[in-house]
Amino acid sequence: MKRDFINEKERAEMKKRAETPIINALETYSTNGKIKMHMPGHKGGKGFAKWFVENLVQYDITEIPGLDNLHNPESVIKASMERCANVFGARKSFYLVNGSTSGIHAMLISAFNRGDRLLVQRDCHQSVINALILSGIQPVFVTPGYNERWHLKMPAGLHDWEKAVLSNPDIKGAVVTYPDYYGMCAPISEIADLMHQNGKLLLVDEAHGAHFAISRRLPQTALKQGADLCVQSFHKTLPALTQAAVLHIGSDRISEDRVKRAVSMLTTTSPSYPVMASIEYAADFAKTDGSGEYDRLICLLDDIKKELNKMVRLKILPDEIQGIKRDPTRIVIDTSDSCLTGYDLYEKLSREYGIVAEMADESHVVFIVTTADSEKELTHLKNSLMDLDRKSDPADSQKKHLSFRPMEQGKCIIPELSVYLNGCRYIPLNDSEGKRSAGMVTPYPPGIPMLCPGETITREHIHLLRDISTSRVDVHGISISGNGREIKIRVFDE
Ligand SMILES: Cc1ncc(COP(=O)(O)O)c(C=O)c1O
Repeated sequence: MKRDFINEKERAEMKKRAETPIINALETYSTNGKIKMHMPGHKGGKGFAKWFVENLVQYDITEIPGLDNLHNPESVIKASMERCANVFGARKSFYLVNGSTSGIHAMLISAFNRGDRLLVQRDCHQSVINALILSGIQPVFVTPGYNERWHLKMPAGLHDWEKAVLSNPDIKGAVVTYPDYYGMCAPISEIADLMHQNGKLLLVDEAHGAHFAISRRLPQTALKQGADLCVQSFHKTLPALTQAAVLHIGSDRISEDRVKRAVSMLTTTSPSYPVMASIEYAADFAKTDGSGEYDRLICLLDDIKKELNKMVRLKILPDEIQGIKRDPTRIVIDTSDSCLTGYDLYEKLSREYGIVAEMADESHVVFIVTTADSEKELTHLKNSLMDLDRKSDPADSQKKHLSFRPMEQGKCIIPELSVYLNGCRYIPLNDSEGKRSAGMVTPYPPGIPMLCPGETITREHIHLLRDISTSRVDVHGISISGNGREIKIRVFDE
């Protein structure tokens, strides 16, 4: 479908060309026949109609007559965004061509002012922390819970948010992630009521939940539960190109003009028409075939989960944990009762079974399942997991698991942008206890900062970072050399 313009000979030639490493790598991956259990949600184009894929390059044009301008939409983009708002139940929707990241930045600068304080779930995505640095807004962190059985962070409960509001009456609102990477759904409607009763705003990072609006069998959307603003990465779970995302306004507590100007400030003056067209494609899918497709997918997943529940060592996360709902399309396998780490399982699936998952951590593998996945592919995933379960030994009781339990952080003052960028130096990790971190130290994925700029480095951080540096976790924000022996961390000059 996508290969018409490259023949075999040309492809072989391209492979030889060392000066096109990105194209070579993409060619290798896209022709290896592996099953994509990762984003983008269109899964190598399978989620799009053939005509759409064939026309995408032709759609890559600029604002010529007959089209529209994303910065001041008056015709086709305006009409498309209005329809999208209608489909997703928003008062107004803004197309984003730089992912939810730019939408999160826009949400924060449009809803709050420099110097404001707001509640932020501590396990937020790094884009929230970057937005705080850029905007001069200060967080009061709300610490998530932890589930021992599933070795998983849990969304903070209503009680935690109530306590935080009571102790910080000056806060202007809250930012909550819903759902998280593992599909866990925070109690949004209760948090929305709490915020609104106290005259505060609720902003939701719904990057992983763009599909929720499509089916009654999925958790309710953040908008339906009262969010004032929310951001959704269409590209993660819907048929849309990477970077396709939408910022929705849900209430009249937010100035539309401020949101419009904030989105415009953070958006390229050459927005990609293919990305915008794919947002429209996904919204149309949501309105038309989406509901039936999700019914089919969820029924199929119910059957598959029944089988996967028979596994002895690899365990599938249930759709509800401690009364907290999980996105039923987010398949997560816990490996901690087996001899495998999450990384081992991820690698085995790719190497031996031709399945590439979205991500692994120490004891989980996460699969992003969308309506673009066929029954055959999902059955192969099920059979592969069951086969690996049969072949895997029990967990070695001596095996040391890296634990990413939420750590109670002290007070955190996010630095001024100029201080963040300039006023710091690298020192050996071992000498850093008690110093203030100047960087964002983030195991990737899922991209949740372990240390934020301004937080105090504790002995616990140092131990964990030492362990991580010799594991397979990719940690952004520290410097590692000498085979993991020399670790340096950025601290403030003070
Ligand atoms: C919870 C969460 N929020 C926001 C983002 C950023 O989304 P995007 O990649 O669309 O910019 C991510 C990315 O993975 C995420 O996991």
